[in-house]
Amino acid sequence: MSKSYNIAVLPGDGTGPEVVREGKKVLSAAATKFGFKLNFKEYDFGGDRYLKTGEVLPDSASEELRKFDSIFLGAIGHPDVKPGILEKGILLQLRFDLDQYINLRPVKLYPGVPTPLKDKGPEHIDYVVVRENTGGLYTGVGGFTMKGTSDEVAIQSMVYNRKQVERCLRYAFDYTRKRNKRNTLALCGKTNVLTYVYDLWERAFHEIGEADYPDIKREYYHVDATCMWMVKNPEWFDVIVTGNMFGDIITDLGAITQGGMGIAAGGNINPEGVSMFEPIGGSAPKYTDKNVINPLASIAAGGMMLEHLGEDQAAKAIEDAIMDVTAHKIKDMGAGRMGFSTSEVGDLVAERV
Ligand code: IPM
Ligand code: MN
Repeated sequence: MSKSYNIAVLPGDGTGPEVVREGKKVLSAAATKFGFKLNFKEYDFGGDRYLKTGEVLPDSASEELRKFDSIFLGAIGHPDVKPGILEKGILLQLRFDLDQYINLRPVKLYPGVPTPLKDKGPEHIDYVVVRENTGGLYTGVGGFTMKGTSDEVAIQSMVYNRKQVERCLRYAFDYTRKRNKRNTLALCGKTNVLTYVYDLWERAFHEIGEADYPDIKREYYHVDATCMWMVKNPEWFDVIVTGNMFGDIITDLGAITQGGMGIAAGGNINPEGVSMFEPIGGSAPKYTDKNVINPLASIAAGGMMLEHLGEDQAAKAIEDAIMDVTAHKIKDMGAGRMGFSTSEVGDLVAERV
């Protein structure tokens, strides 16, 4: 009997539905080719629903989504909704509720994709960032006193406990071992200023590494230096592990070096539960419904989802197809500059799968 997976689809806002459509097209092609079944169920969470109903995410949403094998997300963010409401109320809420404590973000330059890094090619840009995804500055711990006065104080705390740090580091060590490329894990921190939080990270990093991963080489970089080397010598990196805020920032830098938001994909992963895959870019309102947005990030997110589900061959077929399309068809990753429409790019990849 062939395997079958239940996938919750959250197209979301702006160009989300368009890129998700192409992602599903390619996923379906892979399912047919490799003999498994994907049952998609769509949910309308996002800005339009919020403007109509006043509800960001129904109370039942997380419980319902928990029952799926995986979640496939488009984009969250609506021009008529104040920034933060949908991002916190949907995207961050789901990451927290479903305890997706890893954000896995590969930084890989595909052949034929222009990079702003001078003299760098696909042989130099191929590493993975493991971003802690539910702790740190994102927990929302903080507050104001004397708000609106000249004495106002605002606090936002970077909160981590040993357990959170440890499970993220273990995931990163295991991932580095499985990847088996250079067997090097770099911790990105700021131990010279954040002398509590990154002290905890650094101690745990070396303790766990020494005890359980002697085969994995350990390196440490401050976050500012990490940014510098990601531009100057990206080939130094294999896997980088870091906290939530630094991970957010360095993965946008990483994304632009691999060709930008049109191509960068990521996974919000709960290794023991249900994970959610998404393009790392936003909803790009100005390109909505024009059939010009690049769907490759969504398609690549679909590939990551299949790999996570254990369909390795299908995942590889999708990545190979993307690489063939970037190498031989699309000249530019930017919206409206691909030389093909959104749906044509989906067709090109699906055909090759
Ligand atoms: C990302 C995004 C989100 C984040 C925003 C939209 C809340 O920037 O996925 O990187 O900060 O995590
Ligand atoms: Mn971000």
